[in-house]
Amino acid sequence: MAFMLSDCLDTKHFPLPRQYRRLVNLSSAADVGRTAPHERSSVGHLVKISNTGTVLDCGAGVTILEAALDAGVAYPHGCQSGNCGACKSNLLDGTVDMEGYSEFALMDEERDRGLILACRAVPDMPCEVAWLDEDDLIVHPRRILSTTVTAIDDVTHDIKRVLLDVNSGGPFTFSAGQFASVSFEGAPARDYSMANRPDDRQLEFHIRRMPGGNTSAHVANNVKVGDKARVEGPFGTSYLRESHRGPILAIAGGSGLAPIKSIVEHALARKLPQHIHLYFGVRNERDLYLEQHFTTLAAANPTLHFVPVLSEPGGATSRRTGLVHEIVGRDFDDVDGCKAYVAGPPVMVEAATKLLTARGMRRIDVHADAFYTAAEMQAAGKKTGAQM
Ligand SMILES: Cc1cc2nc3c(=O)[nH]c(=O)nc-3n(C[C@H](O)[C@H](O)[C@H](O)COP(=O)(O)OP(=O)(O)OC[C@H]3O[C@@H](n4cnc5c(N)ncnc54)[C@H](O)[C@@H]3O)c2cc1C
Ligand code: FES
Repeated sequence: MAFMLSDCLDTKHFPLPRQYRRLVNLSSAADVGRTAPHERSSVGHLVKISNTGTVLDCGAGVTILEAALDAGVAYPHGCQSGNCGACKSNLLDGTVDMEGYSEFALMDEERDRGLILACRAVPDMPCEVAWLDEDDLIVHPRRILSTTVTAIDDVTHDIKRVLLDVNSGGPFTFSAGQFASVSFEGAPARDYSMANRPDDRQLEFHIRRMPGGNTSAHVANNVKVGDKARVEGPFGTSYLRESHRGPILAIAGGSGLAPIKSIVEHALARKLPQHIHLYFGVRNERDLYLEQHFTTLAAANPTLHFVPVLSEPGGATSRRTGLVHEIVGRDFDDVDGCKAYVAGPPVMVEAATKLLTARGMRRIDVHADAFYTAAEMQAAGKKTGAQM
């Protein structure tokens, strides 16, 4: 079954931790569907450990860590009592009940992102978990920046590239692929992904005008050089995993090129040795942008392969044509060992994620940001950057 990590938040069960716990915020996503200990499942369940591919039979009332260690799986752990955080894991599918734990071992914000402590987690249905790699644990301090617009240009008929100078509130550190909550004066805050490399001085955003949209229309029609903007962040977990050495599939749709640009340029600047396959899907020629930039970059870097894809070309074309995920599917039979970074319209991100997992990519290797609107996020019970 294809699933999004964030989807787990809607069904996960976290009972009140027994100790060290501060009062639970009943409005948090993790409290939805919370069960009391006496309601817990009294039967065992199968648990898949994604990192090793092992499937364990986790007995009734047994934690995932206990079952893994009993089965000889070298699951990372320390205290085994919810205090150290060494067994912190992604809950990829299913639901668990959590025994008491220290908030130092698992912060509320991490819990809301779908993380659990394996030493405290008792499955109440079949589950899939993955312990965290070092790369998964990167946390940058959240900043509120005061910035000034230094450039705003049309890169397509409906996408503006906005450059911001940071006046105060920094230093702003982030990992390539993350996003921020950006508010321009006179429009509501919205999430936009940084398109620049983390070490660039200026912040760069690509903002597509959405029909009926508030902020994107304001950016298209009113924002000008010299205007102020508030930037809060960074947020998001779909950032470049720098220690991974397998091939990278970077798949962008429309203004989803923003975080993918940051990832690709940062990977090249860091001289990561693996091949990077960048697919940029748009409807037709007038939606393409930065094509020359990436063509030049690919000519200078033998590890970068750039494939622009048109789904509805205006006429005869030498470019690839079709839906971008279908083109990726045609080029790659087997994606085991690759990591994918996917960003853009939700329908494209979902189709690409489904294709990649069907072709053998582990779900933890798909790092996807679907550009949901604030209303869609609210309807799905998810938080925008401004609400985090
Ligand atoms: C993690 C993330 C990163 C993103 N990065 C980028 C990026 O780099 N570039 C980019 O261009 N976009 C990005 N987005 C999308 C961006 O955050 C905005 O959603 C987008 O710009 C539209 O905002 P808006 O204010 O113009 O539209 P909104 O005012 O939010 O309206 C959007 C649509 O919803 C409709 N609508 C408004 N209110 C309601 C309602 N109450 N019920 C139903 N429908 C409603 C509107 O008519 C319109 O069609 C990202 C989104 C996420 C979640
Ligand atoms: S092993 Fe220490 S918190 Fe789980």
